[in-house]
Amino acid sequence: MQQITISELKNFVGQEVTLYGWLYHKRSSGKIKFLVLRDGTGYVQCVYFKGNVSDEIFDIADRIGQESSIIVTGKVKQEPKAPGGYELDASDLKIIYDTHDFPITPKEHGIEFLLDNRHLWLRSKRQVAIMRVRHRVVKAIRDFFDGKGFTLMDAPILTPNAVEGTSTLFETKYFDLGSAYLTQSGQLYAEAGAMALGKVYTFGPTFRAEKSKTRRHLTEFWMVEPEVAFADLNDDMDLAEEFLEYIVQTVLKEKDEELKILERDTTKLQNVKRPFPRIHYNEAVEILKKHGVDFQWGNDFGGGDETIISEQFDRPVMVHHYPAEVKAFYMKRDPQDERFALAVDVLAPEGYGEIIGGSQREDDLDTLLKRIAEHNLPQSAFEWYLDLRRFGSVPHSGFGLGLERTVSWICGLEHLREAIPFPRLIYRNTP
Ligand code: 4AD
Ligand code: MG
Repeated sequence: MQQITISELKNFVGQEVTLYGWLYHKRSSGKIKFLVLRDGTGYVQCVYFKGNVSDEIFDIADRIGQESSIIVTGKVKQEPKAPGGYELDASDLKIIYDTHDFPITPKEHGIEFLLDNRHLWLRSKRQVAIMRVRHRVVKAIRDFFDGKGFTLMDAPILTPNAVEGTSTLFETKYFDLGSAYLTQSGQLYAEAGAMALGKVYTFGPTFRAEKSKTRRHLTEFWMVEPEVAFADLNDDMDLAEEFLEYIVQTVLKEKDEELKILERDTTKLQNVKRPFPRIHYNEAVEILKKHGVDFQWGNDFGGGDETIISEQFDRPVMVHHYPAEVKAFYMKRDPQDERFALAVDVLAPEGYGEIIGGSQREDDLDTLLKRIAEHNLPQSAFEWYLDLRRFGSVPHSGFGLGLERTVSWICGLEHLREAIPFPRLIYRNTP
């Protein structure tokens, strides 16, 4: 008997095949047992008729529990009404492991229970669909940059530098050297890479000891960070919008099955096409005032503010020129008006908030020295970074896209915790 996967059924109509998998769901109707098998590639209903199979097999079909691992043999039938379009007219059934009392049943469970059982929850149809979308987003990210002549250059995870402020650092002991931090961003290393290779991207896990318990924050998340030599803020925005359009349109085209399982209304995602609106921070503040928000000029936007701003547009909006005071030390200021940083945040529609943060970088040595001092950062830890301004400094820009925020938005999730296999949250570091 030929061993195949559920995704290959279409090539075996009329033939007898063997499938290995787990029992997803079971129901019966008199003399018929319907077993839904899942094998990671899909789902298929296997039909056992009493009389067509031995009493022993019919009895096994009757008593095995959800998530038992099984081997099923039968003839492949085209069945338009069946999920996936095929059905198995089953003739044999073997148990590898007989499971009972699988904790995650088709009924409703509370979120903490599901998170405690994340290792098992991942087997559900919805979680499998999210993981597939996540994988496709990762591939789209790599394809996009690889296709544009970028080189992937990984940044270290243990670093001596704070990149995004000192309040969210995870510190760890580091042998005789004292301590190291888990990286908040690969950017500083990407800048070194851009000076060596022109266009690079880093893509890996990043860490923030975020005290905020929101649906948009993880303490460990994945970020992709392109960095480009001889690029200014406008070039950075051009790259960001082309990149986002590519990711969203690719996933829409290639993961429509998964988005259907997630019941995602994709009409708003269809709109994610260039050009995206670009508005100055001052215009964003005007929008908030018009909507009755008591907003203090010079502050950063909160989640609620971002939602109001993004609701004015039918696609992602790029807000640029933030007050330099609320942004990172490495951002270049606008020479026309030093109050503003040459920064951009891309806000996703439908209340998903900031998914990209980026900027043109300060390329002047003396100015950067001043900023490091103003931010009370230890200059010694940044000497290597300052060297990039001492030797062949050029204008350069880049940004960071949060993978989980992107997956969450595309899948239409309530909370970031479902967008990563094993979420790390302020109150949770298991399983
Ligand atoms: O805006 P951020 O802090 O920018 C940087 O880290 C820059 N160094 C990037 C660069 O220019 N190379 O973070 C970038 C993105 C955010 O827009 C958001 O999508 C995501 O990273 N992000 C988080 N995602 C999940 N949980 C958190 N706690 C996040 N913090 C940031
Ligand atoms: Mg940001």
